[in-house]
Amino acid sequence: MSDTSNTPEQRYDALHLITDEVLARYSKTPDPRLRELMLSLIKHIHSFAKEVKLTAEEWAFTMNFLEETGKWCSPGRNEFMIFSDALGLSMLTVTQDYPRPEHATEPTLVGPFLLENAPQFPMGADISAGAAGTPMYAHGQVLDIHGQPVAHAIIDVWHSDDRGLYDVQDGLEEKGPWARAALTTDADGRYSFWSVLPVDYPVPQDGTAIQMLQATTGRSWRPAHLHFRIQAPGQRPLITHIFDRNSQNLNSDAVFGVRPSLIADFKPQTPGQAPDGKSMDRDFFTLEYNFTMTDALA
Ligand SMILES: [Fe+2]
Repeated sequence: MSDTSNTPEQRYDALHLITDEVLARYSKTPDPRLRELMLSLIKHIHSFAKEVKLTAEEWAFTMNFLEETGKWCSPGRNEFMIFSDALGLSMLTVTQDYPRPEHATEPTLVGPFLLENAPQFPMGADISAGAAGTPMYAHGQVLDIHGQPVAHAIIDVWHSDDRGLYDVQDGLEEKGPWARAALTTDADGRYSFWSVLPVDYPVPQDGTAIQMLQATTGRSWRPAHLHFRIQAPGQRPLITHIFDRNSQNLNSDAVFGVRPSLIADFKPQTPGQAPDGKSMDRDFFTLEYNFTMTDALA
């Protein structure tokens, strides 16, 4: 199948023969969904390469760049996911694959820093585990689509400290997790916890995703947010963020994750009594946000 042709017409024919031959072989993929995915991927990626007249040098650069990207991956750090996020593919997929009633909480991307088996904390506990930052008390209720409380829902929450770093970026193995927890709602669907106020942060500065962003959009910052994953029997798992209305980067999120309904007030408070009765001798913030889940798919 090597292309020894010289004329433009011969090269044109050879290019089409390559695509046709590849499609013919993959059309024999036994699994119908995998076959659909692969045939479409091949069509689009061949079309892309032809449209931009991809050079051998650009192809080699890409192969090396992907190899380098793999080297940045580790438990709690998926550099490929940052690429998916930065190219808008994560939000496109989340939006397309999460049909929901209008009043249900909007999902957003999971991001690269979710860990399974987060430490469990009781209602109202301080989950910061030594993370630096201004104290923050977050509370609210988890409801189903009919407005009924979702009791015993499992809420994973994870977020940055006041340096804009996550535990996975700062000695997770030595220090253990911080600003990360698994909580359980009570019989009324309520949750509450203390932690520190998250801040705006850039995507990791040491990998290949930041190289791509610096060479293209120049937008690498994310607005301050808390990550949530909420799971309960009979409910569709909800993965989302709550964004701080005071962030300067709400309109330029590097990964396109902001939805207006997910922007909330992280309210500054002076020393005094917190909503849970705790006496605070320093400034702190409060956040109240209720989540509405959707029914699990049949
Ligand atoms: Fe994040």
